[in-house]
Amino acid sequence: MAFSNESDHGALVLGTSSLGARGVDEAALETARALIGSGLRIDTSNAYADGRSERVLGLALAKLDSAERDVAASRVITKVDRDPDTGVFDASRVRRSCEESLERLGVDHISLLHLHDPYTVTVDEAFGPGGAVEGLLQLKQEGIVDAIGIAAGPVPLVRRYVDSGAFDAVLCHNRFTLVDRSASDLFAAAKDLGMTVFNAAPFGGDLLVRGPRPDARYDYRPIGDALRRWTAGFFRVCTSYDISPAAAALRPSTISPIVDHTVVGVSSPQRIAELLTAHSENIPDALWSAIDALGPVPSPIDDTEYEGA
Ligand SMILES: NC(=O)c1ccc[n+]([C@@H]2O[C@H](COP(=O)([O-])OP(=O)(O)OC[C@H]3O[C@@H](n4cnc5c(N)ncnc54)[C@H](OP(=O)(O)O)[C@@H]3O)[C@@H](O)[C@H]2O)c1
Repeated sequence: MAFSNESDHGALVLGTSSLGARGVDEAALETARALIGSGLRIDTSNAYADGRSERVLGLALAKLDSAERDVAASRVITKVDRDPDTGVFDASRVRRSCEESLERLGVDHISLLHLHDPYTVTVDEAFGPGGAVEGLLQLKQEGIVDAIGIAAGPVPLVRRYVDSGAFDAVLCHNRFTLVDRSASDLFAAAKDLGMTVFNAAPFGGDLLVRGPRPDARYDYRPIGDALRRWTAGFFRVCTSYDISPAAAALRPSTISPIVDHTVVGVSSPQRIAELLTAHSENIPDALWSAIDALGPVPSPIDDTEYEGA
């Protein structure tokens, strides 16, 4: 069964890579309840916060009555991860990772399960006998998961998985934003194959909402002076049009016909409310002209080491 794609283009998905980072406490549970209560899809992973992201979501799901729980659980998307100690990422590890996720979430079924950041194996190993892809396909065949996806950053690597035709969905991050569009062809190819496309980290990890602070990062790495200057200009333009940087950074993804879902990281109930406000802000066309007038954006993304992956 294909992953249901009933949402409008650009439907928001709430990212939980920071959920439970400070422990399984009341603040984390309150956030998990707000995530579930939003009615939006939720993106998590076996590895986020060493499993606590899934654990906290599972505790919040357990408080619902069974009908509500089934609906809410069907909106939770998770990912299989390599063995955290050995880096092994084969079919056995995929099954084990999935079992851990089922246990933490308190469910017996997952709507969409991504292969997450397969950087410790080559693509040929992943597709080989006993490899991670075989493990995912078995889980799908057994009906434990409805659909399988590939979720990672480097475009040439993700493209190999997409072109295989084995996957129902693709997630790529930091590569379809105001700063970088290198995932455009990848997403278009995935759409041509009938896949569901998730564009994650539209704020570049947070640069495009927090601005050019001394410790600013894009794609989780420090930025250079040229991007810092461009970002300062972007913030000035947003201020002059009274548009929040979050709204401006979100819009290219949420209106794109090659993106089905935009995955944004949120760490509190307040962030969810801010995100929904940004999503509905009216943006005048003149803002885009003013952003264009800042000149070419110096993207720091360089995936050349993955060419020929
Ligand atoms: N390989 C993969 O599969 C992969 C890789 C990357 C990301 N993802 C998924 O995509 C999600 C999004 O990525 P991301 O969280 O790294 O980056 P992001 O969505 O570009 O940015 C999220 C950050 O922006 C901040 N933020 C959100 N709304 C804001 C607002 N209105 N004002 C100010 N700050 C705001 C959040 O800050 P606070 O922390 O203060 O809330 C959060 O730190 C992840 O959580 C994860 O689920 C998957």
